[in-house]
Amino acid sequence: MPTTLVQPGSPRSAVVTGAARGIGKAIAVELVLRGYEVVVTDVDIDAAERTAEQIGARAGLRLDVTDPDANAAVAARAREIAPLGAWVCNAGVLFEGDLTAITTGQARAMVEVNVLGVMWGVRVAAEAFREQAAIGMKGGEIGIMASLSAHAPVQGLATYAATKAAVLSLATSLHAELRKDRIRVHALCPDGVSTPMVDAMDPEGGTRAILAAGVMYEPQQVAQALVDMFGTRRVYRTMPVWRGVIGRTASMAPRFAARVDPVLRQVGAMRLKRAARRTD
Ligand SMILES: NC(=O)c1ccc[n+]([C@@H]2O[C@H](COP(=O)([O-])OP(=O)(O)OC[C@H]3O[C@@H](n4cnc5c(N)ncnc54)[C@H](O)[C@@H]3O)[C@@H](O)[C@H]2O)c1
Repeated sequence: MPTTLVQPGSPRSAVVTGAARGIGKAIAVELVLRGYEVVVTDVDIDAAERTAEQIGARAGLRLDVTDPDANAAVAARAREIAPLGAWVCNAGVLFEGDLTAITTGQARAMVEVNVLGVMWGVRVAAEAFREQAAIGMKGGEIGIMASLSAHAPVQGLATYAATKAAVLSLATSLHAELRKDRIRVHALCPDGVSTPMVDAMDPEGGTRAILAAGVMYEPQQVAQALVDMFGTRRVYRTMPVWRGVIGRTASMAPRFAARVDPVLRQVGAMRLKRAARRTD
């Protein structure tokens, strides 16, 4: 049973971006269970409204995280419901393929959603927390969904991995910038998670195989891990730690990593074939 984070009688709102489905939806569920008045947001308004109703959230709103003004409008709406307690930057997009194979639009979208979208969200949340502190409501929690790929070179996902490394870097610097205001920043770097993002990957493609070579989590496990950091001083967590260690080592020895990569993909492809045979 999750620990309640919000004191009875003093409700706090929590905004989750990209929360209509997948990991964001699981985070929204976790925050509802922990007593927050949750605002489910997504670029897909119909899906956001449906999810909000389904999980008992307070509202389902449209938010394209790449729009700074729209982030500010959602923060204002959340504060009408209850003082802001948490903001989770979860929305993300992934396009498979080498940098030369993806389109300009795809490359731009990954940077705009995965990096700038996080920056605009953190900015409005931090401003809200500071305004609230001025009237005696100190602190707040910021969650950032990074990825295991933040730690390692990933062939075929260079842009995506770079965006995740960028937000992990942001989280560690923001922690230092915001801690004096008791605003706590927490990032999570999980390995693969079973969501529509992974379902949409080419089953024969290299990315799906590289994920299969690692650990696949359920969205709820990842959501719990992120929200468990709220109220603590933990800045980031990697799931599983051993994959993070391998990833960091690979970053320090990229020539070795490039040689090992095809072996990992073979292992992953074999696992996928075995899993497909089991479901036949
Ligand atoms: N699934 C994985 O294996 C995995 C692993 C590590 C990290 N992550 C990260 O976790 C986060 C969630 O991933 P997921 O697997 O649940 O993805 P998903 O594709 O299943 O869901 C992403 C949600 O974000 C929304 N979205 C897309 N662009 C948006 C925008 N501009 N503004 C607002 N919402 C937008 C989508 O409509 C969708 O509802 C992402 O940041 C992803 O990079 C995923």
